[in-house]
Amino acid sequence: MESLDDAGVYKLTDDLAIIQTIDFFTPIVDDPYMFGQIAVANALSDVYTMGGKPLTAMNIVCFPIDTMDLSILKDILLGGIDKMREANVTLVGGHSINDSELKYGLSVTGVVHPDKMITNSGGVKGDKVILTKPLGTGIINTAAKAEMADEETIKTVTASMAALNNKASELAQDSGGLHSCTDITGFGFLGHAVQLVKNSGISVEIDSSAVPLFPDATDLAAQGMCPAGLHRNRDFYSPWVEISDSVPLNVQDVLYDPQTSGGLLLIVETGIADELMEKLKLTGVNDAALIGEVTGESNGQITVV
Ligand code: CO
Ligand code: CO
Ligand code: CO
Repeated sequence: MESLDDAGVYKLTDDLAIIQTIDFFTPIVDDPYMFGQIAVANALSDVYTMGGKPLTAMNIVCFPIDTMDLSILKDILLGGIDKMREANVTLVGGHSINDSELKYGLSVTGVVHPDKMITNSGGVKGDKVILTKPLGTGIINTAAKAEMADEETIKTVTASMAALNNKASELAQDSGGLHSCTDITGFGFLGHAVQLVKNSGISVEIDSSAVPLFPDATDLAAQGMCPAGLHRNRDFYSPWVEISDSVPLNVQDVLYDPQTSGGLLLIVETGIADELMEKLKLTGVNDAALIGEVTGESNGQITVV
């Protein structure tokens, strides 16, 4: 917990550890079925970041039974079940309560070989930094609520949030050169990156022009569509981040934007980076990008150019 790893891991035997994680939130899209899909992809992600395989899940449901149509809940749960099926995860139960505000999520149990566990600490000079999904979900969801976001953009972002991080995780592990991994969620790209570099005792340089961003994310940021969490992330994490003046302010905003069901941040050996990138693209992780490299040892410093 001290290192803010993505999930709890408990060793049962010399070759088996269980991974436990829990995640739930209020709807971030209008479509209940897609909200269910996103909630599951988001909850499973923390198992994938640890190098594990999710096995079972339990639903957590808070639902305003007096004011909302039950068909909405049905669609959310259906979206959830379909995504669990895609991930080969078995739903084994759950708990629901009456609440004024709708919330959905899951507790997930997975397994990993204790020697093969991946943490958010590790990396040496010369390692490459890969990000597997574009950034900007917080800004675009904020714009969508204000009816300022384009339909196509909302579709793209929704599909990305609903995409599992399983393939990226498996390919990175199979590459034989994965040094550390975390997923990008509420603390934004720079927040999660700071946690990782601090734990790893490394410094990284990020090429902002190589970072994948959703269409319109920078435009909407320039129009002030920044969620409160973005400012909180910048206030908290900027002491460890040095951003060059040449990086436009609206790009800086997106780097601090809180993400829902974001991609994996991978630190990998330089020798396998290009091949891993190729395999990611071939497997449908189309937005994955090589965005920087480990520049040396430090107590955790990020330079953005
Ligand atoms: Co996480
Ligand atoms: Co989490
Ligand atoms: Co119960």
